[in-house]
Formats: sequence, C-alpha cells, structure tokens
Amino acid sequence: MRKKIVVGNWKMNNTIAESVQLAQDVLAQLGEGFSGCEVGLSPTFLALQAVGTVIEGSSVQLVAQNCHYENDGAFTGEISVRMIKATGCSYVIIGHSERRQYFGETNSTVNLKVKKALNDGLKVIMCVGETLEEREAGVTGALVSSQVREGLDGIDDISSLVIAYEPVWAIGTGKTASAAQAEEVHDLIRTVVVKLYGEAVASELRIQYGGSVKPSNAAELFAMPNIDGGLIGGASLNAADFAAIVKAASEC
Ligand code: 13P
Repeated sequence: MRKKIVVGNWKMNNTIAESVQLAQDVLAQLGEGFSGCEVGLSPTFLALQAVGTVIEGSSVQLVAQNCHYENDGAFTGEISVRMIKATGCSYVIIGHSERRQYFGETNSTVNLKVKKALNDGLKVIMCVGETLEEREAGVTGALVSSQVREGLDGIDDISSLVIAYEPVWAIGTGKTASAAQAEEVHDLIRTVVVKLYGEAVASELRIQYGGSVKPSNAAELFAMPNIDGGLIGGASLNAADFAAIVKAASEC
C-alpha cells in the first residue's frame, strides 16, 4: 500500500515572515500528531530554514523547489544539494514545468539534477507533464513517457523518488484534469516504470497529481488507483484549503 504524499509548492510567494506564518497556520489546521499521509511544505529557498524551525518535531517535511547538479562553485544565483540538505530538507522538486518553460530546463538537465540529489541522499519529486498544444496534438503519452525515461536515464535506484504528473494546461488555470484524464496518464507513467524497473519497484512508486487541485476536487482525484497524492500550488497558500486537501488524501 503506497502512502499518499501531499506537498504545498509555494512557488515564488511569501516573504520569510509570511512563510513562517503560513507554516504555523498549516500545522494548526492539521492538528497535533497528524500522520494520515506524508505532507511537505516547499517555501522559497530564503525561508527554508525558518519554516524548518516551525515544523521541527512535527511529521511535516521540508521541500526545496529546485537545485543545481554541481557540488559547488561559480554558479551565481544557484543553490546546491548540500546547501539544501543543510537546511533540513528531505525532498527537492526537480523539473517543474515552470522551470522547463521559463528557465530552459530540459530532460537532460532534469536527469543531472535527479542523479545528483539521489546520490547525495535527498529525495526527489520529479515533475512531468504536457502542454495544451501537446495534448491537442495527441502526443501526451509519448511526451510524458520520454520525460520519465530521459529524466531517469542511468538511475538504478528509484526508492527515494516520487513522480509528479502536472499537465501544464491545468497549472494555475483553474482547469483540472478530470480524475479519469489524470488516472490515464498516471497509469501510463507506471507502465513506463514497469518496463524500466520491473513490477515490484513500479508498484511502490508514488505518482502525485498537480494542477488546480482544490478541496472540492481532491477526494475524487485521490480516489483513483494510480494517484498517490498531490503537488499543490495556489491552494497551498491558504492553510485551511491545504489542510482540507491533506485530509482528503488521508481518507482515501
Ligand atoms: P496550481 O495548484 O496552482 O495549479 O499549481 C500546481 C503546481 O504547479 C504545483 O507544483
């Protein structure tokens, strides 16, 4: 039985003080001793340490939004895996569609980052997903399969990996993939992983859905057999909404 995982990706929102407040509000909403599913918060890099202090001692985990694939050195503006780990993060999100779209990330840079993070002991949420044009052109399956295959190229052990399926057309648009549409792609991703790693490994892999998840649609999405939680953008900026989504995942 795969334990569901719900992560709030706060993207480029909130100052350090606002992030601390939001983390405190999330904890208050979840209630003490919450353990229904795995929960992560992903504030801006600047607020990682401060949010880490708020969630210390709880089951909520700290998640970074990106990393670089080199150890250290002359990469102005970048953040290394070692720096991220030192803040207490347990996960890093890699290959988010906004990184691919606005910052030139490709399957091969995603692959370098995933390798680096996993090798250095940081768990990974690797994002994949198609644009509206790709969906309308009927290439969703081929595109997502190649994102998975190329992102995982040369990686033997995926026990510390989660895949997030985030259709680009559903991110921040209010358009959610229907539960059936999402399930179809999640099932396809698991089939690709079966081919790469075998049934046993694939059946353990958690595949999150992301894209306009809200309290009103979370339960239906999480009830699908291959949807193992959510990567939540907009709704994670509201503690009550995020907690409602987490609770929906815990009850599935
Ligand atoms: P929204 O929930 O705002 O659509 O964002 C999804 C997302 O990109 C999470 O990483």
